Amino acid sequence: MLTYTLANGLEIPAIGFGMWQNTNDEEVKSSLKHAIDAGYRLIDGAAAYQNEEAIGQALKELPISREELFLTSKLRNAAHGYENVKREVAESLNKLQTDYLDLYLIHWPVVKGHGDNWQKDNLGTWRAMEELYEEGILKAIGVSNFSVEHLENLVNHARIKPMVNQLLIHPGVTQTETRNYCKKHTILLQAYSPLKPLSVIMEDAKMKRMKEKYQKSVAQILLRFSIDLGIIPLTKSVHEERIKGNIDVFDFKLEEEDMDYLLAWSHPDFTEPDNKNERPPQVS
Ligand SMILES: NC(=O)c1ccc[n+]([C@@H]2O[C@H](COP(=O)([O-])OP(=O)(O)OC[C@H]3O[C@@H](n4cnc5c(N)ncnc54)[C@H](OP(=O)(O)O)[C@@H]3O)[C@@H](O)[C@H]2O)c1
Repeated sequence: MLTYTLANGLEIPAIGFGMWQNTNDEEVKSSLKHAIDAGYRLIDGAAAYQNEEAIGQALKELPISREELFLTSKLRNAAHGYENVKREVAESLNKLQTDYLDLYLIHWPVVKGHGDNWQKDNLGTWRAMEELYEEGILKAIGVSNFSVEHLENLVNHARIKPMVNQLLIHPGVTQTETRNYCKKHTILLQAYSPLKPLSVIMEDAKMKRMKEKYQKSVAQILLRFSIDLGIIPLTKSVHEERIKGNIDVFDFKLEEEDMDYLLAWSHPDFTEPDNKNERPPQVS
């Protein structure tokens, strides 16, 4: 498995298996079995997905050691603030049946109703995460859905810079400004919902030609788009064939003209999110 190295030296797999909207215990179990068999090692979870207990149980029953896995969790929106983080992390650790997390993220920069004090709010939250990082309980710390102004707040005022920023990225939503900022500050990007434009872009004539050229599915081309940008795609499925197919993306590379086409591709259904105020639907 190809890996990247985070700013703190920690190795991180180049593709991840997402756990959002995977809440049926049996499906959690079977999908994780297929994912581990297929070669995924990074499991992207969150307290808000309400399935950490099932994930912990499923992983315990699989023939894989904790050290081989890279487990991510995220702080619930309702639990921002220095005084909440340690309890929240302890709860996730308990549910996941482990004593450390490879990566812990602030799920969303702005808590609903706290739009005016997000700077202070994030710095307090981050300070508790720094302490847990220094204790070795969190092996890496980062953020999600942070745009440049949210990142600058931490980069300019915190002791430790975020190592990861997890964002919605796919053709049509390429987050150029934030991507450039992250590159400059050695913050590795993860792309969530990389398959979001699948049903629309599969009708695109140029995409049809790419399928022929690379002998790959549209899903595989969308995942490779992230990889060729140097970004870790996180992808979710509960179907064995899709789980296997989605990781079979390391034997080809998109040519420059195809990358340029996908970077420029746009569609009215897909627009850059407003991270400043919106509350994401999946975060409680
Ligand atoms: N930080 C955040 O705010 C945030 C937000 C959203 C997501 N995430 C993370 O990122 C992960 C990935 O995002 P996502 O769940 O939206 O993943 P995705 O892989 O972009 O999309 C998953 C959807 O596509 C379907 N699918 C998967 N593989 C397919 C294929 N080869 N062909 C056709 N359809 C396919 C899945 O259905 P089936 O399951 O039925 O196959 C599911 O409905 C999440 O699971 C979560 O861990 C984070």
